[in-house]
Amino acid sequence: MTMEEASKHGPLHFELNTGAKMPSVGLGTWRAPAGEVGAAVIAAVKAGYRHIDCARVYDNEKEVGEALKELFSTGVVKRSEIWITSKLWCSDHLPEDVSKALSKSLEDLQLDYVDLYLIHWPFRTKPGSTGWNPDVFAPPCLPETWAAMEGLYASGQARAIGVSNFSTKKLQDLLTYAKVPPAVNQVECHPVWQQPALHNLCQSTSVHLSAYSPLGSPGTWVKGEILKEPILIEIAEKLSKSPAQVALRWGIQSGHSVLPKSVNESRIKENLNLFDWCIPPDLFSKFSAIHQQRLLRGNCAIHESRSPYKSLEELWDGEI
Ligand SMILES: *[C@@H]1O[C@H](CO)[C@@H](O)[C@H](O)[C@H]1NC(C)=O
Ligand SMILES: *[C@@H]1O[C@H](CO)[C@@H](O)[C@H](O)[C@H]1NC(C)=O
Repeated sequence: MTMEEASKHGPLHFELNTGAKMPSVGLGTWRAPAGEVGAAVIAAVKAGYRHIDCARVYDNEKEVGEALKELFSTGVVKRSEIWITSKLWCSDHLPEDVSKALSKSLEDLQLDYVDLYLIHWPFRTKPGSTGWNPDVFAPPCLPETWAAMEGLYASGQARAIGVSNFSTKKLQDLLTYAKVPPAVNQVECHPVWQQPALHNLCQSTSVHLSAYSPLGSPGTWVKGEILKEPILIEIAEKLSKSPAQVALRWGIQSGHSVLPKSVNESRIKENLNLFDWCIPPDLFSKFSAIHQQRLLRGNCAIHESRSPYKSLEELWDGEI
């Protein structure tokens, strides 16, 4: 089923505070390997996806760009029909680097604008640095970085701007000085880390919450196994759906867009098959009994003396 054919059980889109409509399911591309990510993007768009979640740091935007070029040139989809997100990496937070970083992503993606550009982390590293070690940490300059993001929005190269991995406190701080409020906060969100406080803040401030790792990153170093969560399995059995579909549908019914990553064509299709059914209220209420746990904790960003964040509590402002 394509997004267009999908039933009234939507929503197929969430409207952002810019007025733009962001498709509610996006294909994740983190850890989608070279040689596979392009084919995954093509399979996803042919299956009906209209949203691809990219980032410069995933080191695969070039291959995504080649796939998009093929999709456009063969008429499968038009640029205006697809939503592309990219992200500003931590080493490019200096205002003079922000525009250069987007230009590089645009060049690799072979696009002249992105639909959404996010600050990847509320966290700065030295210009030119790649990995994580205590030498790369640099003092944050978020107000200056955000002003540069506003410049990209004004230029039209980023049709919406937002943030990622912001706690409620960091989002509130940003809202005090932002001239253009963030359209999106992309964060870890799934049935095992539901983020009720952040969800409420986002709703009351019209910032859309977009859910990364909506399946809990099964099969990776992230030790969550949320698809084996008994309550999720029980609900999936009752609805004759897979646990992954129920986790994704929970996100959409909660008002979050979801960004499942897959390079497997049958799972790519499965993860979009969310619109001709729904989780009824009696089953939806069972999610509140699931034990909560943040899976992607960000230990790499913590250092006692050299990072601005000495502990996970500081990084996430206690939301851990
Ligand atoms: C793709 O996913 C299907 C359904 O989950 C699974 O049966 C199959 O083994 C997967 N293929 C690969 C190559 O992982
Ligand atoms: C968010 O934080 C996690 C660690 O908690 C990190 O792995 C990831 O790269 C950060 N950015 C995004 C967009 O998730």
